[in-house]
Amino acid sequence: MTWNPEQYNRFRSERLAPFEDLVRWLKVRPGMKAVDLGCGPGELTRRLGTLLPESEVVGIDSSPEMIPKEPGFQLARIEDLEGQYDLIFSHAALHWVDDHPALFSKLWACLKPGGQLLVQMPYNFDHPSHLAAARVAQSLGQPVREVPVLRVEDYARLLYDLGALETQVLVKVYPHVLADADAIVEWTKGTLLTAYTVTEAFLENYQAEVRRACPGSPVFYGFKRLLLSAEKPATSI
Ligand SMILES: C[S@@+](CC[C@H](N)C(=O)[O-])C[C@H]1O[C@@H](n2cnc3c(N)ncnc32)[C@H](O)[C@@H]1O
Repeated sequence: MTWNPEQYNRFRSERLAPFEDLVRWLKVRPGMKAVDLGCGPGELTRRLGTLLPESEVVGIDSSPEMIPKEPGFQLARIEDLEGQYDLIFSHAALHWVDDHPALFSKLWACLKPGGQLLVQMPYNFDHPSHLAAARVAQSLGQPVREVPVLRVEDYARLLYDLGALETQVLVKVYPHVLADADAIVEWTKGTLLTAYTVTEAFLENYQAEVRRACPGSPVFYGFKRLLLSAEKPATSI
């Protein structure tokens, strides 16, 4: 399944809540150079821009379908990030990149002294909707992508080892209420299922599993997300 901005935006308001939490940690200074990694349709990049006066904010994304075709957005991979930034921001995207110890070292090297890393990632890989996708993929002979997201305490340790200051690492459950199990499937179609080849058989089996695991209407979809903020010392230590 490919990334599709319309499908992704169907749950726009639910996806905004962690952004609002994350930017509470934002350290605003004038004239910042900021990058939004995995910016998708760019709405949050623009919102971030409004919070950073007289600053330059660039969004990068590797999906031609998702990224806005306008100045300020670049088709590029997170892994290939170059340059030096006052703020490296990423919302619901770093879980698509492997090897987080290497990734975080790289991002840290792209932070200017005094810069800030501000990240939100899903942390609900043990939810039935995720486990079902992996099971169905496996049963149809498709490769199952290993989740690169570490334990929450490992990020705290990783940031400590990098010499981070003012570190915040937490997991928060966002209590979404959706119409029914099929709405959960619609949600995952916009994100998780892009990792798989979603044939008719895939969707049928997956829908059946999610309906079994999440019965009733409305249905509670407790979505765990990991939020972190860390600052690089103004002078290297
Ligand atoms: C769930 S969307 C998040 C979009 C946006 N940040 C938001 O929160 O609304 C994840 C985005 O990460 C992008 N992505 C996945 N792997 C990537 C990579 N290796 N480099 C750049 N972008 C990537 C996808 O194309 C997709 O647009």
